[in-house]
Amino acid sequence: MVQVVLPNDANPLGFILGGTVMHLIDIAGAIASHRHTRTLLVTAAVDGLQFLHPIKVGDLIILHARVNAVWSTSLEVEVEVFSEETLTGVRRMTSRAYLTFVAVDRDGHRLPVPGLILDNEDDRRRAAEADQRRAERLRARRSLEERGSTDRS
Ligand SMILES: CC(C)(COP(=O)(O)OP(=O)(O)OC[C@H]1O[C@@H](n2cnc3c(N)ncnc32)[C@H](O)[C@@H]1OP(=O)(O)O)[C@@H](O)C(=O)NCCC(=O)NCCS
Repeated sequence: MVQVVLPNDANPLGFILGGTVMHLIDIAGAIASHRHTRTLLVTAAVDGLQFLHPIKVGDLIILHARVNAVWSTSLEVEVEVFSEETLTGVRRMTSRAYLTFVAVDRDGHRLPVPGLILDNEDDRRRAAEADQRRAERLRARRSLEERGSTDRS
């Protein structure tokens, strides 16, 4: 996905807003996921996000999304964000995000996701790393749920 950064997307310093980047990451991740599952999806988790460099008004923001791994009803998509200066073509990676989506039908019931063909060493490495991140996310989710129930009691 490629977009030019317009003044309306920017803070008073002329840099794109973090929230706008997060929105574009969610959209790019959802598009890649929809093209794999051809179902409706909800975002279940977004892993910690960093912004390494500002992206200026007039620059291009480029988002590259790929599905790394699928499980029963969920999948992980990786989104890399780059800035590109329009006049020089200089491109820099500014963020990398991992998102988990869950396939659902119109009533919100979970749906199985199609398998992912891992046909080279890089694909297999990415899927194995995604398995480790998933275990960490599910631990974080349990901990949040436990804290939520303790806070209410
Ligand atoms: C995400 C959601 C559908 C999970 O539903 P649930 O009934 O709790 O389902 P489960 O715990 O059985 O998890 C379903 C799948 O999601 C995965 N999942 C759920 N929460 C997850 C998380 N925080 N991180 C990673 N995976 C997660 C589970 O591993 C499982 O995957 P699998 O079927 O591939 O093994 C539900 O929590 C939800 O609707 N959340 C709100 C989504 C939303 O509105 N997003 C927009 C922003 S708020």
